[in-house]
Amino acid sequence: MPESPLELLDQIEASALSALGAVEAEDSLEAWRVAHLGRSSPLMGVFDRLGGLPKEERPAIGRRANEVKRLLESALAERAALLRQQALERTLLGERLDVTLPGRARPRGRLHISNQTLRQIYRIFAEMGFQVYRSRDVETDEYNFQLLNFPPHHPAREMQDSYYIQAPHAADNPIVLRTHTSPGQIRAMREYSAADPGNPPPVRIILPGMCYRYEQVTARSEVQFNQVEGLAVGEGITFSDLKGTLSDFARRMFGQGVRTRFRAAHFPFTEPSAEMDVECFVCGGVGCPVCKRAGWLEVLGCGMVHPVVLSNGGYAPERYTGFAFGMGSERLAMLRYRIEDIRYFWGNDIRFLEQF
Ligand code: DAH
Repeated sequence: MPESPLELLDQIEASALSALGAVEAEDSLEAWRVAHLGRSSPLMGVFDRLGGLPKEERPAIGRRANEVKRLLESALAERAALLRQQALERTLLGERLDVTLPGRARPRGRLHISNQTLRQIYRIFAEMGFQVYRSRDVETDEYNFQLLNFPPHHPAREMQDSYYIQAPHAADNPIVLRTHTSPGQIRAMREYSAADPGNPPPVRIILPGMCYRYEQVTARSEVQFNQVEGLAVGEGITFSDLKGTLSDFARRMFGQGVRTRFRAAHFPFTEPSAEMDVECFVCGGVGCPVCKRAGWLEVLGCGMVHPVVLSNGGYAPERYTGFAFGMGSERLAMLRYRIEDIRYFWGNDIRFLEQF
């Protein structure tokens, strides 16, 4: 026990201050206040007992008791301010918004590789003055074969090679999903020549679109694929125009340095007919797995429009000549990007699609 009230007050002050230093939460301050400054605190006990002390001791003890009381009150206020400040800093730190953090990217859609390739082809031919002509996907045997000079026994006309549709039709003219874009040649020429039959205007068009063949699906052939057909008809068009146009196309498509070669071929609707190869742009013509060691890649079929086809379109072959070509645009994309399996195109596998 302390010997004197003054020593007791020293003790009260010291223990109250040390207890206050231990208070860490703002809402514990009230408990401290009740314990050390409240009605039944030791300090208030000193005030209560003041009256019972000898008269000469009272002023000094009273003064000291008041001093301890003021000191504790101001220490409480300081502590409260400090704790509030600390709490504020904690929330500021904890809930800080870092505006330099990169946002979460939204996945963006894009054009399918086939459409990208088609658009690139349109762009190149547009620069050479060719317009896009849209023809139909569902054709008649007449347009798909007969008017294009296919002989009746041609293997492409067999049921096994084409998708015939069960729709009302004349006995000799069944409905077929077009097996190539070439029937559009006849439709376009007929439309143009109908406008001025005696003097049909020149034609310079490309005809893109999906084609359908009843084939076994393999890495190299699908039952559907895009083709881009081309047709130029006018007076004085020669095989040189064909070669110049298609060689230029190859350079714009595959690179300025690329070389082309034309090999004789056969198509019923062109005469003479050819196939165009481009020098393998992977190995530069030396021979590699992409070109199967040949150094050349076949990219399209072409030829001078057959006189029978011209006149079926309403263009007199005595006056007009023209050239035509047809390319498989997925095949071009496969060569360009070294895609080894055509089934990826319609497989809808996002891992394939997002590479382009
Ligand atoms: N129609 C042909 C096919 O599907 C491609 C073709 C070859 C189109 C020569 C043409 C051409 O216009 O002149 O195999």
